[in-house]
Amino acid sequence: MLGVCYYPEHWDESRWETDARRMRELGISFVRIGEFAWSRIEPKRDDFRFEWLDRAMAVLADAGLKVVLGTPTATPPKWLVDAHPDILPYDENGNVRGFGSRRHYTFSSETYRRESKRIVEIIAKRYGQHPGLVGWQTDNEYGCHDTTLSWGPEDLKAFRSWLRLRYQSVDQLNEAWATVFWSMELGSFEDVELPMGTVTEPNPATRLDFWRFHSGQVASYDKMQCDIIRAHSPGRWITHNFMGFVSDFDHYAVGDNLDLASWDSYPIGFVEKFPFSEEERNRWAQTSHPDIAPYHHDLYRAVGRGRFWVMEQQPGPVNWAPWNPVPKPGMVRLWTWEAIAHGAEVVSYFRWRQAHFAQEQMHAGLNLPGLDELSVGGKEAQQVAQELKLLGELPPVTKASVALIFDYQTYWSTTIQPQGQDFRYEELVFRWYESLRRLGLDIDFVRPGESLAGYDLVIVPCITDVTLAMENALGECKATILIGPRSGSRDRNFQIPDVLPPGPLADLTGNRIVQVSTLRPGLSDAVSGEVCGAGIRWRETVEAKTSSVLAGFANGDPALTVKGKMYYLACWPDDILLGKVMELVARQAGLATMALPPHIRVRRRGALAFAFNYGPEDWTLPTDIEPLMGASVIAPQSVSVWMTG
Ligand code: GAL
Repeated sequence: MLGVCYYPEHWDESRWETDARRMRELGISFVRIGEFAWSRIEPKRDDFRFEWLDRAMAVLADAGLKVVLGTPTATPPKWLVDAHPDILPYDENGNVRGFGSRRHYTFSSETYRRESKRIVEIIAKRYGQHPGLVGWQTDNEYGCHDTTLSWGPEDLKAFRSWLRLRYQSVDQLNEAWATVFWSMELGSFEDVELPMGTVTEPNPATRLDFWRFHSGQVASYDKMQCDIIRAHSPGRWITHNFMGFVSDFDHYAVGDNLDLASWDSYPIGFVEKFPFSEEERNRWAQTSHPDIAPYHHDLYRAVGRGRFWVMEQQPGPVNWAPWNPVPKPGMVRLWTWEAIAHGAEVVSYFRWRQAHFAQEQMHAGLNLPGLDELSVGGKEAQQVAQELKLLGELPPVTKASVALIFDYQTYWSTTIQPQGQDFRYEELVFRWYESLRRLGLDIDFVRPGESLAGYDLVIVPCITDVTLAMENALGECKATILIGPRSGSRDRNFQIPDVLPPGPLADLTGNRIVQVSTLRPGLSDAVSGEVCGAGIRWRETVEAKTSSVLAGFANGDPALTVKGKMYYLACWPDDILLGKVMELVARQAGLATMALPPHIRVRRRGALAFAFNYGPEDWTLPTDIEPLMGASVIAPQSVSVWMTG
């Protein structure tokens, strides 16, 4: 179940055999290669040098490693960029983002699509049936370094074509965008400009379409690669390595091109990326927050329709966050087990050996810089390999009791129009997830509009545009449902619905929202009733038409309502209110909960249960539990596993 990312082109060929042998000795079965190697494969146009890659594949396969080959399109080589500068992306200020690092292309460039097709086809033909090859990775981390959106001439051209298809006539476009506002009416599709460089904010409907357009570009670019690979590489699966906290494109749509999802797990790096308080950042600096990796494991299980890998697992300090501490001893092992507990098929470390050169020379590997000597992380990976042998075959993940809806478009629309600058959709979802996991619950992410049958509790932190499919899924659902603020607040054209929010959920919730107030940091509105705490950041004025009010704000306005089994929370809850609401809905759903301390998490995989201690204190398992692995008293940075039922 273990893998590693390897760059044969970084090391003298005389070292490959030793590397491959040592990988096998450590307990590694899969090796991902090739995703940045274009300049070595084709140093000049049509001058192909495959011999080194042939030999590398042979060495790895002969050692018994299963190869995952990446297409090299994240790094177009210099000669290609020089010949076709139109492939380069532009930033929001209209500056070209040039050659010299990676991901220097826009998905809108027709030239780049053509060139990508060419190189992917040549590689897929050459290696598609290689006996050592088990699967493919398309490109590398779509969207990394803010590269989903691009603001150049190629983008404008493609955006206009996309709008023509979507709206058919410019009158319909004017209608949808409500361009009558501020005299923005357009005479033809050629009048459309990119939403940039304006005096004040551009039209939000234009921006949302611009985001949808780019999201579609990523999915269609990926599909182009997948179609070519499938034609030439029968029997091999295809994945893409997604990122943490990047929602710039619809990952479900890309997931639909793939056989399985994978993602790149850098739990400590993400502590700096997520809007944690300084206190939390310090607390979790060397372990990561206990929900960062699990949140993404659960998300990518949904993106991969049940199947996911960790393609890149942090093996020690990284190089790219503002600060890059060494993980506490035991954390590389713990993260690996955490991924496995959530159903990862393979955990693959980034990277085999730390490079002593170039941009990532401060990024740890399983081996020390330039050497054949295991790092701390390397030794922990070795330990996991031995433990995996002892545990034997692991059962598959079963359906969780809780469904949590994550919606990419809600991220886009609330980013475009936050209304309060700290209304951050991903943060809201993460905090709700954290609160559920503190109750010891297992969670499945579910795509909006998919069936919710079989769940006991459904959580919708926020979904701005409720499609008919989503409305039906909620309407047919027998579970206890919790709907969060701002849901149903926009239609597909980014307009407030005629019936007012929550729009299509008006009947189901029994509510109508007539006002919204956003609260600056430090302000709050106390909530009391069946639950207590406070609303912060975002607070709605609800008319409870056919719902019952369970808790209210200081002036008596409803804060939490219920109609049948549908709960509606009319604010961004503070920690206390959030905890109370989750306890209430879990109880209503009949779920058995635990009250876990902030540093402990549990997860079931079939009949196996895992407990993880992120520190700093011991945690003792209930007395009737006899661990299969680990101890009854779980020390900080340790894991215990036992059989349930
Ligand atoms: C990932 C990327 C890798 C490497 C790694 C370093 O985002 O896919 O190529 O750069 O980060 O942490």
